[in-house]
Amino acid sequence: MTAEAALSTPPLASGPGGPEALRPLLATVLDALAAGAAERGGPLPAGGPDAVTARVAAALGEPLPDTGDPGALHDIVRALAAGAADPADPLCAAHLHCPPLAVATAADLAASALNPSLDSWDQAPAASALEAAVTRALARTAGLADALVTTGGTESNHLALLLAREAHGSDLRLVCCAGAHHSLPRAAWLLGLPAPVILPAPRGTLDPAALAEALTALPGPLLVAATAGTTDAGLIDPLPEIAALCAAHGARLHIDAAYGGGLLFSDRHRDRLAGLDAAHTVTLDLHKLGWQPAAAGLLAVARPEELATLHQRADYLNAADDTAAGLPDLLGRSPRTTRRPDILKIAVTLRTLGRDGLGALVDQVCARAREFAALIAEHPGFELYDRPVISTVLFRPAAAADDTVAAVRRGLLHEGRAVLGRARLDGRLWLKATFLNPRSRPDDLARLLELVEGSTPG
Ligand SMILES: Cc1ncc(COP(=O)(O)O)c(C=O)c1O
Repeated sequence: MTAEAALSTPPLASGPGGPEALRPLLATVLDALAAGAAERGGPLPAGGPDAVTARVAAALGEPLPDTGDPGALHDIVRALAAGAADPADPLCAAHLHCPPLAVATAADLAASALNPSLDSWDQAPAASALEAAVTRALARTAGLADALVTTGGTESNHLALLLAREAHGSDLRLVCCAGAHHSLPRAAWLLGLPAPVILPAPRGTLDPAALAEALTALPGPLLVAATAGTTDAGLIDPLPEIAALCAAHGARLHIDAAYGGGLLFSDRHRDRLAGLDAAHTVTLDLHKLGWQPAAAGLLAVARPEELATLHQRADYLNAADDTAAGLPDLLGRSPRTTRRPDILKIAVTLRTLGRDGLGALVDQVCARAREFAALIAEHPGFELYDRPVISTVLFRPAAAADDTVAAVRRGLLHEGRAVLGRARLDGRLWLKATFLNPRSRPDDLARLLELVEGSTPG
């Protein structure tokens, strides 16, 4: 390449010139984030999908112009920030969509700059060593032996069913309750397993009596999936009873702790996960109650030898003689091939905050949820579903029809004033506030309730 051509080639993020090339670009990104957030001025953009689409189209122009535009970084990042639903805004509390910690996001930048890929040691020497150490430590925190890094709860649940099928055969039947995450029955379908048995969940959790009946009546092999932190209400199934029933009936146990797994960091709340260590597999997800930018999923396993079923040989990645010579064989750590080092931001967060620091964040969001529930309970205009178990509060304007509840939520979304979720429990529609923002203050809770009250007709 001529010197002239080298000068006109866009700079690279890694290599000796990487940090200096990134510095001004990062300044541009940070300015654009600030400008976009100021433009939005609230938890999400006002005007609904058409208005947002029009603003994005205006900022984007021609997606693949003949000639490049150096202003694109600023313009597109600004448009994205202006049109974002910002989980760091206390009035954005719909989903298990956390505001990421700044330190985790900074670490994720290093992952993008270095771009290790965890499908072979020669693409990720240090990242693979880091992943091995941190996944084992996290698995042990949950009382299991090892963990795979995944893209989130959905992939973890899918892998859990895959490992169960490989251990017990393709007539394995999933037994779960109506409160389980949709990714579980979907994984059974994707894996060609028999139709799952979905038990009723009278108060949103798996009923041990119904489970005992099912385990007695159904032919094996059976996989019971319990949930620690349901998506709709943050409820925790009675894990010790379920574990005892599975042991008595020889059923395999998977626990989806995508949401509730974060309680492991808290001295105050950890006991709610008693029974977790009896599972064969556990879904954990640190892009929920772990303040990581997505993706930060894990599947913890009790029997690491079961992971052998994921083994693959591809000569360009893990030739047998390379493995015999001591190069770690990484391909069996995921069904994916190219794989980002999502463990980096997790490792940095765990070391920076420590268990105490993360536990304090968990305690904070659980406390906010309790305070919000107390506000609702004492307000005559609202009905509370129940006291929160983790950090989700379900409520509805008293005596409102379901259509009104749905319209209140959509009205707030359209105006860009608040982002609340919705859940159908006990045959009625509820508004859902999921507290994952440790910087929310009691004033914010009152403001959220006032907004809902002001948007409710009559
Ligand atoms: C209990 C539970 N399991 C699994 C998932 C899926 O996680 P993800 O969206 O990271 O795939 C969710 C998502 O909210 C969940 O609440």
